[in-house]
Amino acid sequence: MSLQDCRIIELPKIHDPRGNLTFIEGGHHVPFDIRRVYYLYDVPGGADRGAHAHKNLHQFIVAMSGSFDVMLDDGRDKYRFHLNRSYFGLYVCPMMWRYLDNFSSGAVCLVLASSMYDQLDYIRDYDKFLEAALKPAT
Ligand code: TYD
Repeated sequence: MSLQDCRIIELPKIHDPRGNLTFIEGGHHVPFDIRRVYYLYDVPGGADRGAHAHKNLHQFIVAMSGSFDVMLDDGRDKYRFHLNRSYFGLYVCPMMWRYLDNFSSGAVCLVLASSMYDQLDYIRDYDKFLEAALKPAT
């Protein structure tokens, strides 16, 4: 998979004078079944998170509140996405080096994930990531 498989997805938005509503259905609005939800909050100014890749995990990242950047790198190309709306999310396919930074004050980063937490799915060393990402397919 490459950076071109990652994309911003616009979510349904039900406008209502009482407040808007957005929903996400696994396998429909995001291209995987949702097995886990986690969120980042109370991020101090200047902090960055998540400098790693996942071997098999699919993720979908939404700025529920505030804004932040997600930097994606497939070993060949890099792209910085800015997330600042709760009805847009970023689909991140497996084998993408990624980190999050530029958090606004009060930002909340919601992540939907395709499997339970598994530390063996992580690649935390950038050189090892490059080796795996650029390995010719057999
Ligand atoms: P991690 O994914 O390593 O985040 P970062 O790369 O931004 O530091 O998670 C930080 C810690 O939280 C780590 O000790 C593992 C734990 N964690 C869980 O126990 N379950 C989860 O679903 C996640 C995402 C993290």
